Amino acid sequence: MQVRGMDGNFIEELKGRSDIVDVISSYVPSLNKKGSKYWGCCPFHHEKTPSFTVDREQGFYKCFGCGKGGDVITFVMEAEGLGFYDAVKLLAERAHLEMPKTLSTDNGEFRKVKERLVALMKDAARIYHANLEDSAAAPAREYIAKRGITPAMVRRFGLGYSIGYTGIADALKSLGYRRDEMLKAGVLQERDGKIFDAMANRLIFPIIDAFGNVIAFGGRVLGKTDFAKYKNTDNTVLFVKNKNLYGLNLIKKLRLKTRVNDLIMVEGYMDTLALVQAGVENVVASMGTSLTEEQAKLARRYVEDIYICYDGDSAGQNATLRGLDILKRHGLKVRVISLPNGEDPDEIIKRAGVEEFLKYKNAAVELTEYKLLRLKGDHDLSDPFGRASYAKESAKIIAELPSEMEREIYENYVAKLTGINPSVVKAEIAALSAGKVSEEVLTSGVEATTANEQAARYVLHRTIMGLEKWENFADLMPTEALRKAADYMNECQLAGKAPDVGTLYHVTSEEEAGAIIDFDEERYKGSEETAYRDCLNLLRKEFAKSRLAELNEKYKMCTTDEERNDVMRLIAETEATYRRYYGNQ
Ligand code: UTP
Ligand code: MN
Repeated sequence: MQVRGMDGNFIEELKGRSDIVDVISSYVPSLNKKGSKYWGCCPFHHEKTPSFTVDREQGFYKCFGCGKGGDVITFVMEAEGLGFYDAVKLLAERAHLEMPKTLSTDNGEFRKVKERLVALMKDAARIYHANLEDSAAAPAREYIAKRGITPAMVRRFGLGYSIGYTGIADALKSLGYRRDEMLKAGVLQERDGKIFDAMANRLIFPIIDAFGNVIAFGGRVLGKTDFAKYKNTDNTVLFVKNKNLYGLNLIKKLRLKTRVNDLIMVEGYMDTLALVQAGVENVVASMGTSLTEEQAKLARRYVEDIYICYDGDSAGQNATLRGLDILKRHGLKVRVISLPNGEDPDEIIKRAGVEEFLKYKNAAVELTEYKLLRLKGDHDLSDPFGRASYAKESAKIIAELPSEMEREIYENYVAKLTGINPSVVKAEIAALSAGKVSEEVLTSGVEATTANEQAARYVLHRTIMGLEKWENFADLMPTEALRKAADYMNECQLAGKAPDVGTLYHVTSEEEAGAIIDFDEERYKGSEETAYRDCLNLLRKEFAKSRLAELNEKYKMCTTDEERNDVMRLIAETEATYRRYYGNQ
């Protein structure tokens, strides 16, 4: 059995030899035994009363505050910011177990390549950073001084300097890296048969992912040139543009130290540095202005509240504003900070200090209000026609809002501003928002699912908790993630072992594993027996339905009687097998 591309037996042995209470105690100092569980303060979110539990017997931890849970491996992954393989490695060292040498699968091959590139990027970052001491880096040192970046920030963000077009290639070569690896990692570029460092003579900002891996570089020109002010590494195996947030690795560390209630999202590297240097550490940069789903999801993993602070001129762009809706759709509460005179955070801090910046942060307004305020500038509200056109345009913005309650708030806001009767504004908006998708569908991930998926989760939940006998229902699973969970249970059954709750986090998506394990049994309290059967029957019914639909399509495509007979037989079989689940439908 394979667990995330590693030998399942090894993983099992490793877990057997890694006492979860011992491991976690070195991160959570005061674990106390109460009943069958150990309790302590959660290392993943700030709290004063313990809601973090560890179950030694089951090899499982769970925080009732933030919802995080998993086995000893996920714990190390989360606490150390490591990937699965590296967390396993760390635990193996601790348990004095030798790591399996052969990575049998293709996946293992791929990971080996990737590991080399990760190491290469780390070395490249070290080299760039060390370059700053070099005599050739005088212009970079001057630039850093001119921008007022302190040595502490240079170290914290690992800033560096690229000396010439081939410096990095030579240095990496002497460390044993091949040219094709440097190209693959994006450290070098090739043009007309020549290779060169695209970051040549630029100040280097390493882009580091949440796990602490250097995945790309941003490079700024030092003087005035015709070249682009900033350049980023091209897309590579490790780095896909616009899928990361600059500074997120530091947020992760910050969160182990203190409570992080909100994030400030700025545009660029320098803004991030300036804020952190001024003591405002909860900041990330989107590196460019159009936000992506991935960035929204990343941010949502850390906070619920987010403050957007883009350059005065770019924040107001309609394209940017629409981009911010992505954040809202992912469940973030979005506020916009508007800075005066088109300044960016770096500039305002330089001019007037961080207190000035924080004043503007406190005055930030909710995204929709921000849009409505901006719209005011385009209409003459002292004129009746101006007020009417403003109300019409506002209605479009409000109609986009997924929540009835929010619409209500802003309908009243516009009515007040324009003196138009609220019921008229409301009617205008109602006409526009007819046919829009409901809030639930738009905003939640695992929550917003079909009855079918919930049924599948319940069935898997009961089985993995050992409350029901195993059955093979992998075919009935409505999604890939659920099917992976069911497959894992089948493999356990084949191997004659009880499925392990923690391992579920490694064989399917963490989100889905959590949803299965945390399934709220209260929903069916008192009727577990019938609920379990009902859910299973629903799955079978849905499965049969889609299977029959498929066969019907197939039947239509048949060209010979023989083919038709075959399909008819399959239809009859399917109907016979699943008829009893149809009930009296
Ligand atoms: P800005 O032009 O606002 O840069 O671009 P900045 O951070 O204020 O930089 P300084 O103060 O002039 O040094 C914001 C961000 O957009 C991306 C970079 O991530 C930058 O930090 N950008 C900008 C590019 O990728 N390429 C460019 O040519 C310009
Ligand atoms: Mn700037």
